[in-house]
Amino acid sequence: MSSSVKEYEIIEGNTFYYNYNYYICNKIERKMERIEVENPFVVGKYLSDKYFCDRREETEFLRKQIENGRDVALISPRRLGKSGLIRHFFAQDDIKEKYHVFFVDIYATTSLAEFVYTLGKEIYDQLKPQSTIWKEKYFQIITSFRVGFKLDAMSGAPSFDLGLGDIQIPQTTLDEIFAYIDEADKPCIIAIDEFQQVGEYTEKNVEALLRTKIQKCHRAQFIFSGSKRHVMSNMFNSPSKPFYQSAISMGLDPIPVETYADFATQMFEERGKHIDRQVIKDVWNKYAGYTWFVQMMMNELFALTPIGDTCQEFIIEEARHNVIMAQEQSYKDLLSNIPPKQKIVLQAIAKEGIAQNITSAKFIKKYNLNSASSVQSAVKMLLKSDLLTQTENGYRVYDFFLSEWLATVY
Ligand SMILES: Nc1ncnc2c1ncn2[C@@H]1O[C@H](COP(=O)(O)OP(=O)(O)O)[C@@H](O)[C@H]1O
Ligand SMILES: [Mg+2]
Repeated sequence: MSSSVKEYEIIEGNTFYYNYNYYICNKIERKMERIEVENPFVVGKYLSDKYFCDRREETEFLRKQIENGRDVALISPRRLGKSGLIRHFFAQDDIKEKYHVFFVDIYATTSLAEFVYTLGKEIYDQLKPQSTIWKEKYFQIITSFRVGFKLDAMSGAPSFDLGLGDIQIPQTTLDEIFAYIDEADKPCIIAIDEFQQVGEYTEKNVEALLRTKIQKCHRAQFIFSGSKRHVMSNMFNSPSKPFYQSAISMGLDPIPVETYADFATQMFEERGKHIDRQVIKDVWNKYAGYTWFVQMMMNELFALTPIGDTCQEFIIEEARHNVIMAQEQSYKDLLSNIPPKQKIVLQAIAKEGIAQNITSAKFIKKYNLNSASSVQSAVKMLLKSDLLTQTENGYRVYDFFLSEWLATVY
């Protein structure tokens, strides 16, 4: 006997519908099947190729490099879609079949110990659902992680509860991890996201150390991705650096506007809604095709359009307002953490949109700034913390939404 009802839950603003099939035998088993998300403009995570726009050529490029034994350095500004592309590549059936894939985001790490911890944990998490001989060797080979291996006193189920403090000698643990990888039953692909971060580690020469280990590792290939163009370029393209010419450099451009418009139109149509093509193009243009901003806007535009209706240009303004106001608290938190001198300069640049001649007397007077040198040092810090970016035409606040909020609301 079985019946089915629909229920849903909301995860990070998206509604997921489930199809629960109740099988009544001795006990009730709930079989859960994810049907679809209500809002198809997914932001901040990768669900499946259904919600992923294009990147066909880029996926093929990655496949070609990896299959021919070349590592890749993927370099582009933030929020264009690097992490998404790697997740998409890893989700391809043939890749999943042929390789073990691991994705480590090291943006928040500050030391080799944290790097080792993050890598070890990702490998464990990926292998957890499997039962293979290789998996069973995890704690045999990575002996320094044994302290984290626990058996639940009640159920006897194994768990892995490792603390950062458990890593005594990161280099040794790293050796063990690489020794473990070398025993893998399938070749591995390890993506290290925000790789430029290793340059900021407290220990010296981490780059050289990693390069040596990676070179010796025959069972894994690597995708290094990073947002800081000059740091990444310097790492892979300057002869004095350990990773010099060790990987194929790959850039990422915005998804072409027509391709994105086809995708967005389809997402609306499939769910009984319509959208004027010009709306998509306007949004794409306003945010220079930067996927994150465009997807955020499309998500809101979709939400604002009732089923059966057509999303038209006049709604853009309301969507923009909603998206920006939803972030207001995080902008306030962010501003409370930056020094007043930088804050004034940030707002001045936001008001300009794109600011040229920021050290000119005119600019300084217009925004009541202190002096050319104080503007210069503030800009330097703001660039370093990614709040500002330098374009061909001048400086702008990197986050388009923050920029609008600073210029109009704050
Ligand atoms: N091809 C795509 N189709 C749909 N959404 C995408 C695509 N690429 C990226 N995104 C979304 O855009 C946002 C930014 O992409 P992300 O991969 O995180 O950028 P990056 O790693 O370059 O900073 C993510 O929230 C992601 O969900
Ligand atoms: Mg990323």
